[in-house]
Amino acid sequence: MPSKTIDRDGLEPIERASRDEISALQLDRLKWSLRHTYDNVEPYRRKCEEKGVHPDDLKTLSDLSLFPFMTKYDLRDHYPFGLFAVPRDKLARLHASSGTTGKPVVVGYTSHDIDVWAGLVARSLRAAGARPGDMVHNAYGYGMFTGGLGAHYGIERAGCIAVPMSGGQTEKQVQQILDFRPDIIMVTPSYSLVIADEFQRLGICPSDISLKVGVFGAEPWGEGMRAEIERSLGIDAIDIYGLTEVMGPGVASECIETKDGPVIWEDHFYPEIIDPDTGEVLPDGQDGELVFTSLTKEAFPVIRYRTRDLTRLLPPSARSFRRIGKITGRSDDMLIIRGVNVFPAQIEEQILADKHLSGHYQLVVGREGHMDTLEVRCELLPDCAATMTPAEMASVSKAVQRHIKTMVGVSTTVTVLEPGGIPRTVVGKAKRVIDQRPRAV
Ligand code: DLL
Repeated sequence: MPSKTIDRDGLEPIERASRDEISALQLDRLKWSLRHTYDNVEPYRRKCEEKGVHPDDLKTLSDLSLFPFMTKYDLRDHYPFGLFAVPRDKLARLHASSGTTGKPVVVGYTSHDIDVWAGLVARSLRAAGARPGDMVHNAYGYGMFTGGLGAHYGIERAGCIAVPMSGGQTEKQVQQILDFRPDIIMVTPSYSLVIADEFQRLGICPSDISLKVGVFGAEPWGEGMRAEIERSLGIDAIDIYGLTEVMGPGVASECIETKDGPVIWEDHFYPEIIDPDTGEVLPDGQDGELVFTSLTKEAFPVIRYRTRDLTRLLPPSARSFRRIGKITGRSDDMLIIRGVNVFPAQIEEQILADKHLSGHYQLVVGREGHMDTLEVRCELLPDCAATMTPAEMASVSKAVQRHIKTMVGVSTTVTVLEPGGIPRTVVGKAKRVIDQRPRAV
């Protein structure tokens, strides 16, 4: 166990409120959010009309189950701004994340949304033990990804010092940690282990590293990985959860005193667990797909957004809000490769855009050291194979690799095989993904 924990102090009153108080607040806010969405997001209003429900039908929290879901497909169909609930002049920022195919999903924030977000990341940081004056090394990527800027504003709101390092450049990350002596690091769990390896290479032992706490998320990680990170960096490793469509990092976050799963900030997000096949709401404690309804968001409200993350709801412990268990998988085919969300169909698009290649392909996901690897195996069309030289095949591979990097954002190795090189599936669906990584539980 790490020895360098930070003392904890004050909570916001709502974090200690009774369940009745929380439910009353949620119901009030839910009524507002449903009405706001119905009035301002035409595609969602149409879905409600098709289902024959109206915001006035919501009398209790459980009536939410009457309302239609929102999915990534809704975002795709109304790309880029079709689900925004405010006019353009009310927007303060945009972010984006992977769509299921070519186009990303785009989300917007008013300045009030940004303010709430900063407040929730600050709350998450306090739950992780951060105190004003702490220095936070932020190695989440800055840009369209919500990780970098989402964490950044929360760090400042918590009264901490933000070091906006962003991702990559491991040697520089480590040198800066040695020179600046930050207290906290925010980074994906897999990359934290790459940083830990670099410390070890330099002969620096965990007790000499200034970091006390790490706040890790954006990809699944389990208790085994927690133990490894804590041991190799000499820190407390805390789990932060979130997703672009619902806000970004800080939808839920773990408390340092219990480390028993991220606490959902239920005053802003109403969670449900559903059976991914039937859509039926399941009782707390049962495994299923996590669904969120935003209670206060202005620019991009979500009603019953299907996250596709599989987990369960756990009872309150260190705070009055419920928690989520570890994310155990997905109910769609999204992969997270080194923190980047990747849908096989996005890769398929890039393969099919190359006139030399057939539609047969396979994605082999592995792990080298602490980092995920992705090999894309594809196949030449018979006509091309007959005439192509090895040099030409190599240039096809390079071109596909470059397009995937540009369009999907992930580095790959692309192997171009002769026709028939990809095993055919005779019965059932083609096996497109071979994930050889150890399971994160
Ligand atoms: O990953 C937001 C984030 C940034 C969260 C930094 C935490 C820290 P997206 O890129 O939209 O947003 O990816 C969201 O990542 O649906 C989960 O599948 C996965 N994910 C996020 N946090 C965790 C976590 C950001 N703590 C998707 N544990 C989500 C497991 C996580 N999976």
